[in-house]
Amino acid sequence: MRTMRKGVQEGLAGDVQLGLDVVQAAGLNGERGKAAPTTTPSGGKGEETAFGRILTGDARRHLVKLPEACIDLSFWSPPYYVGKSYERHLSFDGWCSLLREVIHCHTRIIKPGGFLAVNIGDILCFPDPSMPRFQANNMRRKKVPVTREQILAVKKEHPNAKRQELAEMLGCSEQTIQRRLEDNNVRGGKQAASTKVVLTGCMVAEWAEEAGFHLYDQRIWHKDPCWANSRWHSNSYRAVDEFEHIYVFWRPGITDYDRNRLTADEWASWGSRGVWSIRSVRRNDRHEAEFPEELAARVIRLFSPPGGVVLDPFVGTGTTTAVAKKLGRQWLGIDKDARHTRMARRRTDGA
Ligand SMILES: C[S@@+](CC[C@H](N)C(=O)[O-])C[C@H]1O[C@@H](n2cnc3c(N)ncnc32)[C@H](O)[C@@H]1O
Repeated sequence: MRTMRKGVQEGLAGDVQLGLDVVQAAGLNGERGKAAPTTTPSGGKGEETAFGRILTGDARRHLVKLPEACIDLSFWSPPYYVGKSYERHLSFDGWCSLLREVIHCHTRIIKPGGFLAVNIGDILCFPDPSMPRFQANNMRRKKVPVTREQILAVKKEHPNAKRQELAEMLGCSEQTIQRRLEDNNVRGGKQAASTKVVLTGCMVAEWAEEAGFHLYDQRIWHKDPCWANSRWHSNSYRAVDEFEHIYVFWRPGITDYDRNRLTADEWASWGSRGVWSIRSVRRNDRHEAEFPEELAARVIRLFSPPGGVVLDPFVGTGTTTAVAKKLGRQWLGIDKDARHTRMARRRTDGA
């Protein structure tokens, strides 16, 4: 872990300070294997009790104010440390602290027997100058002949064509279309730092275990291949990014098991199945990283009781809260970006 941290930029001092405050409030002492004792009593001053709200601000600040054992299911997808606008300020260490502290804040608020479900891309790739250089000897002599001008000409004739359709018309990959249109031909090589690949699932599981949770289950979300994010794909044998994980952690306690949450067909087709094929949200006008309603619906229906409370501390556009409302659950959302919380409120109110 040390080696990989060397290569990343410094985090903001503000985040570090926030981290320290929350470490105390969540009882996070930084030592492995010690579950976080709470310092925020139930019914205490400043507690946020009402559900059916979308709160603006850092998740850690709000979570420490929630009453004890009030959440049946917390389902969220955090920043992935892949360079999205809402995470660009974070160093790798800052990103790790954010996730670890948010997980620790859940120790107190998840009901015994309840669940914490984290949706995350399992592989994290970033340039790390301390890595040995991977120098690819590209054996393919013939380059893709499609030019930017050709793509622009076809785009002019078919202004509404999506990248995939343009690729089909021009007989090349979506990746080629993307590269040509964005003038992005960076392929690593002698000058660029090599890519460090890290399994995030191991880290999330470690933080959850130290916060007193136990890994209960995992599902794989098989999504659309994400060519736009595969800038490390060229000159390598790596697979394109086309699946994510949902890690489900259990807080010890009695869990109601209700076979009637799903129909027999639903149990057979997805409830008991490990791989869920669900199309990604293709639109990017609302948010950079929205997950599909179907994903939220499956997690909520499986891991929370009707009428139970569902939390999303990284609520984004409000997918979790809108779906929770439609499914007859109580809900609570948090996001630090006021543009996102406005969107989430509108969407959830209209659900
Ligand atoms: C992957 S997106 C979640 C998208 C959401 N699942 C949806 O379907 O719209 C992560 C969200 O976390 C928010 N975020 C980042 N850092 C945060 C923090 N410290 N506290 C609360 N929200 C944060 C971002 O603004 C972003 O909306």
